[in-house]
Amino acid sequence: MSDLVERHSQVVAPVIAFDTAIEVIEARGLWVYDRQGNRWADFACGTAVTNLGHNHPAVVEAARRQLDRVVHSGCIFRYDTLVEAAERLRDITPPTIEKFGFANSGAEAVEAAVKLAKKVTGRQGVLVFRGGFHGRTMGSVAYTTSNALYRDGYHPLLPSVFVAPFPHPYRWGMSEEEAVSFCLDELDRILRHEVTPSNLAAVLVEPVQGEGGYYPAPQSFLAALRELCDRHGILLVFDEVQTGFGRTAEWFAADHYPVDPDVVAMGKGIANGLPLSAYGASAELIDAWPKGSHGTTFGGNPVSCAAAVAVIEAMEPLLPHARDLSKLAFHRFADLAASHPTIGDVRGLGLMIGVELVSDPEARTPDPEAFRFVHRWCLEREMIVIDCGPDGNVIRFIPPLVTTSEELEWAIGLIDEALTAYES
Ligand SMILES: Cc1ncc(COP(=O)(O)O)c(C=O)c1O
Repeated sequence: MSDLVERHSQVVAPVIAFDTAIEVIEARGLWVYDRQGNRWADFACGTAVTNLGHNHPAVVEAARRQLDRVVHSGCIFRYDTLVEAAERLRDITPPTIEKFGFANSGAEAVEAAVKLAKKVTGRQGVLVFRGGFHGRTMGSVAYTTSNALYRDGYHPLLPSVFVAPFPHPYRWGMSEEEAVSFCLDELDRILRHEVTPSNLAAVLVEPVQGEGGYYPAPQSFLAALRELCDRHGILLVFDEVQTGFGRTAEWFAADHYPVDPDVVAMGKGIANGLPLSAYGASAELIDAWPKGSHGTTFGGNPVSCAAAVAVIEAMEPLLPHARDLSKLAFHRFADLAASHPTIGDVRGLGLMIGVELVSDPEARTPDPEAFRFVHRWCLEREMIVIDCGPDGNVIRFIPPLVTTSEELEWAIGLIDEALTAYES
């Protein structure tokens, strides 16, 4: 164990789990470096954050320039980077989204989105989906059902949160159509037995479930949610914290669907590693939120906002490359799935790809040991890869957008070798 890991264990709360013992001293693009001169390709992206690769020069430069100007406002002064970040977000978010507020973390953005929905509708209920992840603060954890561990020991949670099933066709051994139909029937039952639609302020959904196992919502499912919300005056809130900023090879997952949300929560990749999150909605909705009924000290920090503007500028030209990488990755994983019985399913959107590992393909039995083997194998060969899903058996494959096709081929080749070794 390195000296730092030992010191870490003496003074840092162990409740925050770290994936590796790597002591990073420098990070650039795909690569992170330790004190001994070892390096790893970071296919975890700091948990889906550094979508432009670590320390993107334009982002670092924008932050550095702002550091020399103004570091903090705390909602006392106006400053240009806040306005510029909001203007840029308006350019890239769905057309229904016109005005923005800023915060520091994904959980805060989600909570703000729900507070907005409650305040402007005057309703209390929130409908969420099983397997969803929306954060770990006391409010947001009430919406999170990707893993019971996040809620264990923290009850009672917020009341009037209703949990409906989200389509998991592979896990249920169903076609996509069957899974959607099952979910909509269950949703209908919830609305008849547990809460009337007129009590719902928001339907909160990740267009691609992230932590829950990388399940993209089928189009017909999101369309049905949109229709439900329109019929009953409920606000459709997309949690794009993980799916945003190029992760699905478009600005947002919403761009893949013929459905626009009323409210969007964003975070993670928004400033490529500087702490920032945001929520957006139509001018009509945001202007109806009474002044002073929500607030923040650090949210929309001037340096983080400068970084966000640079992220949006740097990402635009990379999106076509991201689409090419996505095609290549899905193509290569399909090849792997044909030759490895351990791969039960490959799914996702853009560069948000889940590869589900199973011990019995017929029964689709989750195989977390297979993931641990792949994780170790890759780590020993200069690659960091993390998991998702409640059983820890889904490879969460999230290359940064600056990955070259050669690096992508190399990474998938390592996973191929790992699975061959595991299966032998
Ligand atoms: C979809 C989604 N929403 C919300 C969050 C919470 O973000 P944070 O950890 O920044 O609070 C996450 C984090 O993984 C997420 O993936």
